[in-house]
Amino acid sequence: MRIPIDLSSYGEYLHYGVPLVLLTVMGPDGRVNVSTNASITPLPGEVPRLVAGVLTANYTNQLIAASREFVVNVLTETMRPIARQCGSYSGQEVDKLALCGLTTHPARVVKTPLIAECPLNLECRVEDVHHLGDVDLWIARILAMEVAPEWSDGRSGVNLERFQPLLYAFGHTFARGPAVGHGSI
Ligand SMILES: Cc1cc2nc3c(=O)[nH]c(=O)nc-3n(C[C@H](O)[C@H](O)[C@H](O)COP(=O)(O)O)c2cc1C
Repeated sequence: MRIPIDLSSYGEYLHYGVPLVLLTVMGPDGRVNVSTNASITPLPGEVPRLVAGVLTANYTNQLIAASREFVVNVLTETMRPIARQCGSYSGQEVDKLALCGLTTHPARVVKTPLIAECPLNLECRVEDVHHLGDVDLWIARILAMEVAPEWSDGRSGVNLERFQPLLYAFGHTFARGPAVGHGSI
């Protein structure tokens, strides 16, 4: 017999191994805010796109609405304390870059900078938004991606052996496991 699960925990149960990332967004004054996000979904199709779910109460949402761009910075499995801090304080009150000792690096296409300590970065420009009340879904085109030498395959891709991202599942953080197959499914 199947046992019903309390719907209030559905979000945690659907988060079984999703990327935990930092979003960077630049304010009109040039200040950069950073926040933790577990709601990034890649979209299928010829055009590289993703959707980011951002709570409307968050400063990040206000800044994306104004700048129409953001950068997705992939956290490494050792950056858990940074994920906690960037997900606990609002950039309206705290300079989280300074708090976490994070440094920025200029992006190639967008004005918003990358987080230098995150080895994989996706530069995004907003194409559309869906307002769902307490959350906005930002549909964005990925204009550029870059990888740091420690995760690079030496050409223009990511070395899957070196790729050590921080994952989020059931409200906990995880490192990735070994591959169980190679190539397409
Ligand atoms: C593990 C984790 C996952 C989170 N995922 C999201 C998310 O997907 N979307 C979101 O808007 N906030 C998410 N948050 C919450 C924001 O990071 C948090 O509210 C942050 O303080 C917002 O900062 P800001 O006001 O500077 O934008 C998450 C926090 C943590 C710790």
